[in-house]
Amino acid sequence: MLHENLTINEKGHLCIAGVDTVCLAEKYKTPLMVMDEERIRRNFRVYKNAMAKHFGQDSFPAFASKAFSCKYIYRIAKEEGVGIDIVSSGELYTALEAGFDVSKSFFHGNNKTDFDIEYGIENGVGHFVVDNMTELDSIDRIAGEKGIVQPVIIRLTPGIDPHTHAAITTGQVDSKFGIAIETGQATEAVKYTLSRKNIRLDGFHCHIGSQIFDIKPFCDAAKLMIEYISSLKRELGYEASILNLGGGFGVRYIEAQPELDYDEFIRLVSVYIDNEVKASGIKKPQIIMEPGRSIVADSCLTLYTVGGTKEISGFKNYASIDGGMPDNPRYALYQADYTICLASRMNDKADFECTIAGRCCESGDLLQEGVLIPKPQRGDILAVLVTGAYNYSMASNYNRIPRPAVLGIKDGKEFEVIRRETFADLVKNDI
Ligand code: LLP
Repeated sequence: MLHENLTINEKGHLCIAGVDTVCLAEKYKTPLMVMDEERIRRNFRVYKNAMAKHFGQDSFPAFASKAFSCKYIYRIAKEEGVGIDIVSSGELYTALEAGFDVSKSFFHGNNKTDFDIEYGIENGVGHFVVDNMTELDSIDRIAGEKGIVQPVIIRLTPGIDPHTHAAITTGQVDSKFGIAIETGQATEAVKYTLSRKNIRLDGFHCHIGSQIFDIKPFCDAAKLMIEYISSLKRELGYEASILNLGGGFGVRYIEAQPELDYDEFIRLVSVYIDNEVKASGIKKPQIIMEPGRSIVADSCLTLYTVGGTKEISGFKNYASIDGGMPDNPRYALYQADYTICLASRMNDKADFECTIAGRCCESGDLLQEGVLIPKPQRGDILAVLVTGAYNYSMASNYNRIPRPAVLGIKDGKEFEVIRRETFADLVKNDI
């Protein structure tokens, strides 16, 4: 199957990490997300080991927790000894609640409010990833008020096009994120930062985009960043000690996509870095990466119950499920690819072509079009695979639909990691 943690048992049911998904759906109801903890830990270790091996022992992954933010994942990140990327005070709060040591965190965002900055400083965030000049002023002022010197790195836009969906491309010069190298504004920002009393500039960050299968843009970005770091040494005598290369490695959602060898990708990036470091004679910075999707996506699937099916004569067929864009808005937003199967009848012939429709009151609420599954009956369990990233974290209560429960699986046993929202949860803030 798509990933090795997915199998089919003797009943013809889909299993994840050896556990029968149809039994889970019966016991916990649907929609239901199920996460294979070993897979998450394995993915962390792939990055951690490859980065230590190819970039150096001080190098580590900082999990981009926007992909999936809850106490469970920060606890795993803590146990695996990795860092985190956070992008809001809400993510920071969740990490703190989970007991995560946030000195190993990078606080992102193109519009950190003064509250975010204060909250981050008070709680000992490791580095702010500075996005713009006005933010620098706020960090300098607030750090001064608190009597500390706050470490930061600056987010740069290297001007690289990674050829992915436009909504998740970020490294180009006219991006809402970061400061451009090409226009000279990055160097202005560096000079300004170095002149601030309450800020310590430790280095730089770039992130070119997400769901990228080609290694070339990562290598180009790394080379460009090292070139820039060495130009600063020549021009200003300033030497950066951290280079954070962001996230973005692609994940296999459908058979037609490859399963990337992240160790090999990291090795290739390291060759570019080492060559450039050697050529320019700078000290090699500590390399950080921020994988999000490639840590959690393939650990998870979402189970739904099929309700109505519709065969529109001369047109197409629909199968409707008891979830949709509230728990997974990615098809509606990005026409994202997904593999969908009928978890309750995996061995039946998949010859019914249909569109999988969510239950929301709008036509755009689809999970996929033109999929082939066995002709579903009301009550069949349908699985959408590879839903661990940017599903729960982007979920909403649109149409007042409660968010699903999330289960973890470890050693063949399931446990709840996020409970299903209740109707009472839906009205808890209504006055
Ligand atoms: N670092 C930074 C600064 C980022 O902005 C992101 C993702 C990452 C790391 C992690 O990238 P990853 O390894 O997950 O590709 N909601 C969209 C994806 C948005 C990505 C935002 N930034 C989706 O569902 O495809």
